[in-house]
Amino acid sequence: MKVLVATQKPFAAAAVAGIRQIVEEAGYELALLEKYADQADLVAAVADADALIVRSDKVTAEVVAAAPKLKIVVRAGAGFDNLDLPACTAHGVVAMNTPGQNANAVAELAVALMIYMARTQFTPATGSEIQGKTLGIQAFGNVGRLVGAKAAALGMKVKALDPFLTPEQIRAGGAEPVETLDELYAGSDYLSLHIPATPQTIGSIGYELITKMPKGATLVNTARKEVIDEAGLEKALAERPDLKYVADVAPDNLAALQEQFGLRVFATPKKMGAQTAEANINAGLAAARQIVSFFKDGCTKFQLNK
Ligand code: 3PG
Repeated sequence: MKVLVATQKPFAAAAVAGIRQIVEEAGYELALLEKYADQADLVAAVADADALIVRSDKVTAEVVAAAPKLKIVVRAGAGFDNLDLPACTAHGVVAMNTPGQNANAVAELAVALMIYMARTQFTPATGSEIQGKTLGIQAFGNVGRLVGAKAAALGMKVKALDPFLTPEQIRAGGAEPVETLDELYAGSDYLSLHIPATPQTIGSIGYELITKMPKGATLVNTARKEVIDEAGLEKALAERPDLKYVADVAPDNLAALQEQFGLRVFATPKKMGAQTAEANINAGLAAARQIVSFFKDGCTKFQLNK
């Protein structure tokens, strides 16, 4: 039984060692494909894999079709927009994620990005403080709740909107529930996005919503670049010289934005929200354990394509 770990952006060495231990103790073989240059490398590597662990690597229909022995693919992380679930289902492959395992790392980065922008990208220009400001959280899941708790500890007022939660559940998570997106955006000095990329959310954050934000507001995106309508963002930033945008997921029009708006826009050079040793270990080892309990006990907890 071969478990392939295919990561264009590799896990920390300690995470790989932990995955290896779990896989080998179960009597399976571990294969590693790291920093691969081309999707064709992944297609070739899955030929004899029974199980696959990935991060944001693209598990396309082509990958699944090239893996006749594949029974399970685990996305070590939360967002699974990189998995072709219908293709997995069509080939009898169980697809899972590891929800919550890297959430703290992403939440810490969201807070760090807010402070980085408040302090004008650590330049000597006079900045502002986040204490006393209002943070709006769009989607109050594992990451959103942690961002809210950290922001509250820093003295921010926290509001949240989540279509899958009741107002009571949002209050129990430490935030004030808000009923509409317009209300959330209009009342937030900082707006932190934690929505997945789905057909419903892709391109959903654009000019109309962004320009609802109050004077001096900052939009923080540690979710997915695809949820932003980039032309709408550009228009909003051009019309409203007080607004800022910060992202862990560089927009395609980043160069144009930075040229026009300078220190009002920042994006990390490579998606780094989950790039901590702790998050790699949590998510990587969880993925390995989920594979072993799937093969040994038939456990399908966290299956996405049920
Ligand atoms: C996730 O969805 O879990 C995060 O975006 C992390 O993605 P990564 O594993 O590619 O860093």
